[in-house]
Amino acid sequence: MNISSLCNLIHYTKPFLFRSTKESDLLKYKKRRQANDNSLLLLSTPKLFLFLSFLFLSFLFRLPSVIFLLKQEKEANIKNKLYKWCEKDKTKKVKTMFTKSSKYDTAFLKENMMGPNAIKIIEELLESLKLEEGMRVLDLGCGKGLTSIFLAKEYGVTVFATDLWISATENYDRIKSMGLEDKIIPIHAEAHDLPFADEFFDVAISVDAYHYFGIEEDYLTKHLAPLVKKGGKIAVAVPGLKKEFTDGVPEEMQPYWFEDMSMTLHSGDWWYNLWKKSDLVSIDECKEMKCLEEAWKDWLSCDNDYARRDIGMMEAEGGNYFNLVLIIATRL
Ligand SMILES: C[S@@+](CC[C@H](N)C(=O)[O-])C[C@H]1O[C@@H](n2cnc3c(N)ncnc32)[C@H](O)[C@@H]1O
Repeated sequence: MNISSLCNLIHYTKPFLFRSTKESDLLKYKKRRQANDNSLLLLSTPKLFLFLSFLFLSFLFRLPSVIFLLKQEKEANIKNKLYKWCEKDKTKKVKTMFTKSSKYDTAFLKENMMGPNAIKIIEELLESLKLEEGMRVLDLGCGKGLTSIFLAKEYGVTVFATDLWISATENYDRIKSMGLEDKIIPIHAEAHDLPFADEFFDVAISVDAYHYFGIEEDYLTKHLAPLVKKGGKIAVAVPGLKKEFTDGVPEEMQPYWFEDMSMTLHSGDWWYNLWKKSDLVSIDECKEMKCLEEAWKDWLSCDNDYARRDIGMMEAEGGNYFNLVLIIATRL
């Protein structure tokens, strides 16, 4: 409503809203009305005060809904930005990659994601691996088992779905609901204390988890590589950085930066140099993955507080710093 229509409204409603009891006021009012005067001068001070209080209170009561709407709009803008980000030419090509993961029920995935869409990540990771039916695969840090389900369903391998934060019983319920209890064995274990025999696995895979424990210099040689058969493969995908932050964390990222992120997020070169030190593996590939935007977009659209918190972080990041690093090595 513009100022002139507001004045008109006040002008025509004031006899009803602010009926003055004083005869002199009424006379003055009539005169003013004849003169088509829009001013509020005729209102007595307490009534003017009441009127302004009424305006202020109605604004105050509407404030939370206004804030809520602004927030909604901000989130929608961010999601829209991220969507546009994924619509760039280079990522259009990427979309055609997800022929397997696009078959999965979106609601089920969103309910069980713990970060960037793990099945899109594993689909890309597996482009470089040859899995055969009946192989034994370790899924280390499997979370709620999305990657284990994908491995068992798409490749017919036997998966040892191992995780710390998610209990074996919780994962077993999910595995049974998918009818995969003959293919996936849920295990609750810490990555430094894995309950498996040496050279038990054909392949060890870890998606969005290895950076929590694998940053230790001797982790690969001491804990993971020995569990894989000679000639077997170790394949890891971790969230990382395009380049190490040698001059400190960029200012725009600081509000979202937790201390452990400086320890866990690293560039592809950093991971390459770490794995090069192990004499139990030879590195086949170490590169930036193509599915970053797609996997993040899926995560940010999940209905949980962690995903909502990450929207702000990804807005600040603006496509400048994060990536997903893939490392594949052969067990020597
Ligand atoms: C961000 S979640 C990702 C889960 C799953 N891979 C996915 O992408 O949906 C990281 C997972 O790493 C696991 N993890 C972290 N530290 C671990 C440790 N020391 N031993 C075993 N698992 C660990 C957690 O239990 C958690 O489920």
